Order: sequence, then structure tokens, then C-alpha cells
Amino acid sequence: METKTKQILNEALNEIVKAQTKQDLFLINTKYLGKTGEISLLMRELKNVPAEDKPKIGSILNECRQKIDTTLREKAKEFDEIELNKKLQNEKVDVTIPVKNELGTLHPITLTQKELMDFFVKRGFTVRVGTDVETDYYCFEALNVPKDHPARDMQDTFYITDDIVLRTHTSATQIHTMEKYKPPIKMVSTGPAYRVDEDATHSPVFHQFEILVVDENVSMADLKGTVEEFIKYLLGEKTKVRLRPSYFPFTEPSVEADASCPKCGGKGCSLCKNCGWIEVLGCGMVHPNILKNHNIDTTKYSGYAVGIGIERLAMIKYGINDMRQLYENDVNLLKQLK
Ligand code: DAH
Repeated sequence: METKTKQILNEALNEIVKAQTKQDLFLINTKYLGKTGEISLLMRELKNVPAEDKPKIGSILNECRQKIDTTLREKAKEFDEIELNKKLQNEKVDVTIPVKNELGTLHPITLTQKELMDFFVKRGFTVRVGTDVETDYYCFEALNVPKDHPARDMQDTFYITDDIVLRTHTSATQIHTMEKYKPPIKMVSTGPAYRVDEDATHSPVFHQFEILVVDENVSMADLKGTVEEFIKYLLGEKTKVRLRPSYFPFTEPSVEADASCPKCGGKGCSLCKNCGWIEVLGCGMVHPNILKNHNIDTTKYSGYAVGIGIERLAMIKYGINDMRQLYENDVNLLKQLK
């Protein structure tokens, strides 16, 4: 049995040396270490070995299994390195080569932000710039989200100190704007927001676009018209928009807007998870408490506010299924979007 084990070990090591691909390694692994692999079969024969030889043969078998396993792993690592080097070689940038007519491209997130900006600036909105680091007051308190409010759980916050946070949404710029300016207010603002969250549809850093309008006679009809118009502008005239009742502490009433999936036209596909609709924003009429806190006369003025997820819109617009692709900066993907 000892000879047989050594023979199998030699065979396995030989095959590993000759392996050309990771698939080969996988097959070798199954052949020798799999459930019905050669080593496993020998292990089963161990029960027929005389008791005094069992420890010795057992440990030889174990060593052999380990040797095959580590050699397979080492070889797999080699393949990984070769593959990585190939990739690096392909993507290598020689900065000394004179420029061919190869212009860079704007990132899909930037493109989407710019398109939204264009839409609103042409309609007389002012652009405000917020900051990524905010106090608890601007991010929550002033937006009608007091300390013990359950809505704070909806937004897992990165705290810098007890009182200073990475903003969880761009809505904080609404407050800065209302502090500085009197109605009529028509402002937009865009930038990163941060939440403790990460999977195929969430990233710890993402981007939002905020809209705030405060004026006389502003109604839900204005909000609906604006939302429908810019979604069609961005995703195409054929896009349908539906509003669903929702809840945000800073708006009353609150709604969320879905766009019909531009890929399948609403029939259902992988992009819209077979639902035909994709949620793109939250919005509503500015909560009267917020207006009152900024000495805005609520018998005369009302307002609407909108918060748009830029990544979501960019994914719909460019047919990207996994949000993480937006952050990998894969040159080939970016080229396709050109
Ligand atoms: N700030 C909300 C969020 O991040 C989105 C939002 C909802 C913004 C309603 C608004 C609004 O301005 O009116 O989830």
C-alpha cells in the first residue's frame, strides 16, 4: 500500500507539472482528492490494513494528500500570477508614447450628473455645492429627523464624532440653502453620500442629486410634472413614470418614483428584476416644520424636494447590472459607453 501511495503521489505531481490551465488543476483535484478520487479510495482501504501498520500508512496517506493539495494550490497561484501579469501587460499605459486620437471618456456617473445639471440649469435653477462632512444637525435634526427617530436606522451612518457625520444624503444642502436664501428658491446640488452598506446594488459611497423648490403656489402637480419631464429627458420620451406613496421625515406627503425599464419596456428583464419598473428617486412636498424653522411663511409659501440616486439612473441608462462595475473603472467598459 505504501508503494501504491507513492506511485499515486508521483503520478499526481507529474500531472500537476503538465497542467496548462486552472481547469486541468480542477480535474486533477477531483481525480486524486475528490470523494471517489484515488487517495480517498486508498483511505477507505485503510480498514483492511493490519492494526500495527495503520498509523504509519495513515500518516503516509495524509502526507500524500497534503502534498498534492499544496502543490495544486501553488500551481493555481502561478496561473493566477500569469493571468494577472497578462492583464497588467494588456492594460499597461506607456505615458511616453505620443497620443493617438484616443480621448478619455467621462465616467457614467459624471455623465448622468452633467445631464441632470444641464436640464435644471436651463430651467433657471441655481447650483449649490454641499460638503461631504456634515454635522448631525444638517444631516438629520434640521430635516425633521430627531435623535431617537427610527428613520435614522434607514440610513446607516458613518460617524466621525458623536456630532459629525459623513453625510448620508445630499438633502443636507436643502437646509444650508434655506438658511442663506429667501424664497423663491430653485436649487439643485449633487455629490457623494455615504452609508455603511455594500452589495450588488449598494455602495458605501454613492452619488445623489438633490432638488429644492420653495415658492408661492408650489404644488404636487409641479413636482409630478418636473419629475416626469426630467426622467423622460434622461431615459427617453417613451419612459413611463409612476409615483408611489412613501415616507420621508422631511416631506409630507412623500412619494417615490419608478421609471419603466428602458431595456424591456416594462415587460420584465434582468435589469428591472422582472418587475418592469425601477425605483429612481424619493420626493415630496417639503415638511411645513422645516419651512417654519427657517422663518418661511407657510400660509404663503410651499415647496417640493427631490433626491435622486445617480448610480441607479446611470445603471438604467447604460444597462449596467452590477453597481460595483461603476467603481472598477474597467477601461473596456468605459470605452463601450463612449
Ligand atoms: N434623502 C432621501 C434619501 O437619501 C431621498 C429624498 C427623499 C430626498 C425625499 C428628498 C426628498 O429631497 O424630498 O433616501
